[in-house]
Amino acid sequence: MTKESFRDAVIKTLEKRFFYTPSFKIYGRVAGFYDYGPPGVAVENNVLAFWRQHFVDEEDMLEVKGPCVTPEVVLKASGHVDKFTDLMVKDEKTGTCYRADHLLKDHCKDKLEKDVAISSEKAAELMHILAVLDDLSAEQLGAKIKEYAIVAPDTKNPLSDPYPFNLMFATSIGPTGMSSGYMRPETAQGIFADFKDLYYYNGNKLPFAAAQIGQAFRNEISPRQGLLRVREFTLAEIEHFVDPDDKSHPKYSEVSDLEFLMFPRKEQMEGQSAKIFRLGDAVSEGIVNNQTLAYFIGRVYLFLTRLGIDKKRLRFRQHRQDEMAHYAADCWDAEIESSYDWIECVGIADRSAYDLRAHSDKSGIPLVAQEKYAEPKEVEKLVIKPNMKELGPAFKGDQKLVIESLEAMDEKEAMEMKVILESKGEIEFEVCKLQKTVTIKKNMISIVEEKTKEHVRTFTPSVIEPSFGIGRIIYCLYEHSFYTRPSKDEEEQLNVFRFNPLVAPIKCAVFPLVQNDEYEKVAERISESLFAAGIKYKKDITGTSIGKKYARADELGVPFAVTVDTETSVTIRERDSKEQIRVNVDEVAKLVKKLSKGRTTWADISQKYPAHNTNLADCAKDLAVRMLTSP
Ligand code: ATP
Ligand code: GLY
Repeated sequence: MTKESFRDAVIKTLEKRFFYTPSFKIYGRVAGFYDYGPPGVAVENNVLAFWRQHFVDEEDMLEVKGPCVTPEVVLKASGHVDKFTDLMVKDEKTGTCYRADHLLKDHCKDKLEKDVAISSEKAAELMHILAVLDDLSAEQLGAKIKEYAIVAPDTKNPLSDPYPFNLMFATSIGPTGMSSGYMRPETAQGIFADFKDLYYYNGNKLPFAAAQIGQAFRNEISPRQGLLRVREFTLAEIEHFVDPDDKSHPKYSEVSDLEFLMFPRKEQMEGQSAKIFRLGDAVSEGIVNNQTLAYFIGRVYLFLTRLGIDKKRLRFRQHRQDEMAHYAADCWDAEIESSYDWIECVGIADRSAYDLRAHSDKSGIPLVAQEKYAEPKEVEKLVIKPNMKELGPAFKGDQKLVIESLEAMDEKEAMEMKVILESKGEIEFEVCKLQKTVTIKKNMISIVEEKTKEHVRTFTPSVIEPSFGIGRIIYCLYEHSFYTRPSKDEEEQLNVFRFNPLVAPIKCAVFPLVQNDEYEKVAERISESLFAAGIKYKKDITGTSIGKKYARADELGVPFAVTVDTETSVTIRERDSKEQIRVNVDEVAKLVKKLSKGRTTWADISQKYPAHNTNLADCAKDLAVRMLTSP
């Protein structure tokens, strides 16, 4: 099976069983938007419930929930208004837009895959472009598009030069239209804006982590690859605030022995492939920057593999130096291999103190933490001394806020101000709370170096951020869980999702073997007991054959199916092995619950209960095995 035909089979099954479907289909679709149907919603709920359990509960994180509509000032401070852009090119005749880097990427991949006569130098050049694609400037991208004569894929028309396009959906807040806002492109900024409250809630102690699950919006230039690149998606983000001078993690030893595929920048630059590392070695060899970052890499690995992601198709790829934002200390992406190639599903970044500083500067509210010294420390500090006689008449009612802002400057800003005041005699100074710039003259303040005793150290915490694209993880999980097998008569291929019970949208199917009142009553009794045990089940009392009912349940990834074929005992079938055991009616719910919660395994249960075989050949085989194995 080719990658493409495998993908087609997966997507066809997902759409047929309404895991998801393009939104607003009856009006013609709008690219980049999808609705999840009942099984899709159930899978997402299960993934999010496990995410909460694995991260928020186990790590005692502080979960928050903020609005999607975000005022412009917040996203100006974070840099999104100015820099959250992708480079776009337009079909010069039709105006259709494309992401410039995607066109270049497709061109290089196509040549490498299909051009059998390609020279080794050319191949190396194209590989290099693929490696540095994310870092090319508009000019560099434009030059390559021209050099390779890349045209619009649909029309073959020439393309414009690349130019930046901001991916945020703009909106206005309130009826006047005067107050600009955006739909949040990530949930993180809301957490940073809440830092002061979170720190206080946490008893003014570091480290701590805050978490948020919510919708994020990105007006992607050309959404493609189904659920992988959409315009509205669920993000689950963690912001772990830590002392920049101590990034050790108390639970690091719990993950340091994990071994999995890692792809450090050195291996990428040398054209090698990802290889298995022991996480602890990657830290001690200085490949991963610090313990806290490594701790999250390990926890993300456990999260994804416990969901059912195939560990052979999961790797942690380090960002190359030129790929990282200038302020970032280290970044790793959890990439999952799908039929679309390796896809970034979780970004794990040490963002240093960048975000909190940016919001402190813009809001004028110091977003800092404090550490009490055991002994007071003597330090030399730049102290700002306001000269009230000059400031009062100059700023009148604004005087208090101007002084507050002056005193809130950090050492570096104060030093810069001192130098400028000494050379030029005055400086323009932004007072955030007044939302205006004022002129500070040399005689209004003195900035002097003084020896003082400090009792606390005040600092801006660093942030380590794991950011999970839930839709991408779920799509990869669908691909990793899907397989087909022949029907009993071998006439057709049947679709199966081998979801583990944790993520399966429905844990148990219940059917009477044939339509009959007694069996239906038993099926009803079992359904009630499953409901009471909190197990999501689906009852099927249609007249369809039992084989078809199993096939329908397998296609939804239902791990267990209960068939009522007597009034006292029933069979339970496991989806992948198709093995069946016989169980008393009253035991069903308890057993399915234990299986679904992972408190027991099918292998274990099938030892304890009699096997049920569905045809004579199987019965004979079973009898023979029993005779051989019984004492
Ligand atoms: P990409 O380079 O693929 O556009 P990104 O680097 O912009 O992604 P981040 O800003 O790090 O992504 O976003 C965090 C996570 O959000 C990603 O790891 C990914 O799982 C998810 N994500 C980002 N953009 C989309 C999208 N358009 N559709 C679905 N998920 C997305
Ligand atoms: N348990 C009944 C059947 O599979 O046919």
